[in-house]
Amino acid sequence: MGVGSQRIAVEKPEVADTFAVRSLAPDILLFANLGAVQLNYTYGLEECLRAIAILEADALILHLNPLQECIQAKGDTNFKGLLDKINILCSKLPVPVIAKEVGNGISAKMAQQLIEAGVSAIDVAGAGGTSWAKVESERAENPLLQELGRTFTDWGIPTAECIADIRSHYPTVPLIASGGLRNGLEAAKAIALGADLVGLALPFLQAASQSPESLHETVQLLIAQITTVLFCTGNANLASLKHSHVLQKLA
Ligand SMILES: Cc1cc2nc3c(=O)[nH]c(=O)nc-3n(C[C@H](O)[C@H](O)[C@H](O)COP(=O)(O)O)c2cc1C
Repeated sequence: MGVGSQRIAVEKPEVADTFAVRSLAPDILLFANLGAVQLNYTYGLEECLRAIAILEADALILHLNPLQECIQAKGDTNFKGLLDKINILCSKLPVPVIAKEVGNGISAKMAQQLIEAGVSAIDVAGAGGTSWAKVESERAENPLLQELGRTFTDWGIPTAECIADIRSHYPTVPLIASGGLRNGLEAAKAIALGADLVGLALPFLQAASQSPESLHETVQLLIAQITTVLFCTGNANLASLKHSHVLQKLA
């Protein structure tokens, strides 16, 4: 599980408790989260360590959201020199760093730069699902920003394309597929394409906003969909699905 940006918790310690979910999930992978661009706006090692400590996280996700910042009234658009700062953090933090987009995708070229900077894994968060350009366009009061957001609503590299492209260049880098995945069949397809993990944001948020029972049903259905794919393709587990060539049959 990955939490949303912990910037609010870093800046307002009184709400840090709302992120402290480790006691509820003692043995799962938990990812801390901060915007990489904050490294150009006063954040450094100390803030990252705090985000990790609040969650007792196994890794820190640094999200890259240049398009989203462009559609915000006072967006943080200074992305200059971030790779060097990420590089320093990767060498100093006690946990691995994961680089992640937020719905516009990561290309193989960008993956190369991030891997060279020292990140341990990549979450492509590709296009096809939640669109932050659209969200910011809806939130914006300024008509120019509203239209700018609408223009870029569908912008980005689709998730499947990111996974296939990065995997073909980097056969072993840990890769997370997210962005537009809506059920266990799509999750299984992403794994067959080469992802090691998958992430879903909107489907969990929608279910959680209804009721705890709805969230439980969503998780049960997701598991049933994935195990059905494994059963019907003759794969004992996800690791085996990853190395099988069943994609044509799943399509
Ligand atoms: C309400 C909401 C808040 C989000 N906040 C963050 C965030 O703080 N940090 C981050 O890395 N991604 C954030 N995301 C992006 C998701 O992690 C994901 O990359 C994106 O929504 C695409 O996945 P989806 O199509 O399944 O929603 C957020 C998504 C949603 C729906």
